[in-house]
Amino acid sequence: MKDVYQIAVVHGDGIGPEVCAAAVEVVNAALGPDCPLRFTEYPAGAEHFLKTGQSFPQPTFEACRAADAILHGAGGLPGVVYPDGTEAGLDFTLRLRFELDLYANIRPIRLFEGVTSPLAGVKAGDIDYVILRENSEGLYAARGAGALLRGEVAVDTLVQTRAGIERIVRKAFELARQSNGAPRDGVRRVTCCDKANVLRSYAFFRSVFDEVAKDYLDIETEHALVDAMAMHLVLKPGHFNVIVSENMFGDILSDLAAATVGGMGMAPSAEVGDANGFFQAAHGSAPDIAGKGIANPYGTILSAAAMLDWLGRRHGDERLLRAAEQIRHVTEACLANGLLSADLKGKSSTAEITGNVCDRLCRNRSSSSSMAGRARS
Ligand code: IPM
Ligand code: MN
Repeated sequence: MKDVYQIAVVHGDGIGPEVCAAAVEVVNAALGPDCPLRFTEYPAGAEHFLKTGQSFPQPTFEACRAADAILHGAGGLPGVVYPDGTEAGLDFTLRLRFELDLYANIRPIRLFEGVTSPLAGVKAGDIDYVILRENSEGLYAARGAGALLRGEVAVDTLVQTRAGIERIVRKAFELARQSNGAPRDGVRRVTCCDKANVLRSYAFFRSVFDEVAKDYLDIETEHALVDAMAMHLVLKPGHFNVIVSENMFGDILSDLAAATVGGMGMAPSAEVGDANGFFQAAHGSAPDIAGKGIANPYGTILSAAAMLDWLGRRHGDERLLRAAEQIRHVTEACLANGLLSADLKGKSSTAEITGNVCDRLCRNRSSSSSMAGRARS
């Protein structure tokens, strides 16, 4: 346990600053005046690139590497691109993943009370699984290293290593072990999602998955081809518990999955390696609604709760684990009470949602401390 945890905060672009500020407020409200987290802001992103020619300044990188955790709003703006057409504002997220080896991208997909799914006949609790996206290799490994030949041929290489597959598959089984299983049947199950029928690299992914699975005989396993998986996530979401997949497939499936539980605004994520943790919602910077005060902050708030969980476990700090629990609890209550932003067909502003979450957290804190006071007296 530490006296102080340094959190590097990067607001980023579009709605990034709005949702990031909301998450910081919520964490402060959950931990109260003795909050052991110190938030320090650093610049990065597309706006910063337009101003300075740099999307991810070296001092920001150093601060992120040295921090106890990293919190991000969202990055990137369409049209702010390098000569090759790729977005400059994504450097922050992508370089952190590679340079800090944040190999596990954990994306919980859960349908909350109060949120309507576009799928017919599903209610709160019927969808509750994790997409575990490999975050350090796969097709994304080619970022900045692909080739364009004579304006005629473009190549990006998909990379899959035994060590990379093994560690992400182990993580999937560990997540399944800690979980309550799939909502439909309570079975702890890991689904290996690939395209093993077509490409050698995915057949390799599957074979390493099968080898690792032998160490986890208490967990059910299955294989699903990614194209079929897109359909299953719509037709039988309650069947899934933990889904593990290559980087690009995980990226695509996590947006589809988010749509089934209310949209990108409801999709938190935790990107972790052995030494560092990086927390941001799975959504982009949504420049079309930036500055209007209507962005959905729940995804980033839940990502901040995941940060407290990760820090709490890492440092054996009960205060942080309790705060994470409180944030999740209060968030659920707010959603159930109809505190919904425009993307969820509600009318609440970012500020109303954030204020409400914070008020409830403060009330809970003062009632639990007065209870502790009574117990002492
Ligand atoms: C995500 C995002 C990122 C990705 C972008 C912002 C680089 O879409 O985290 O899913 O493509 O991985
Ligand atoms: Mn994505």
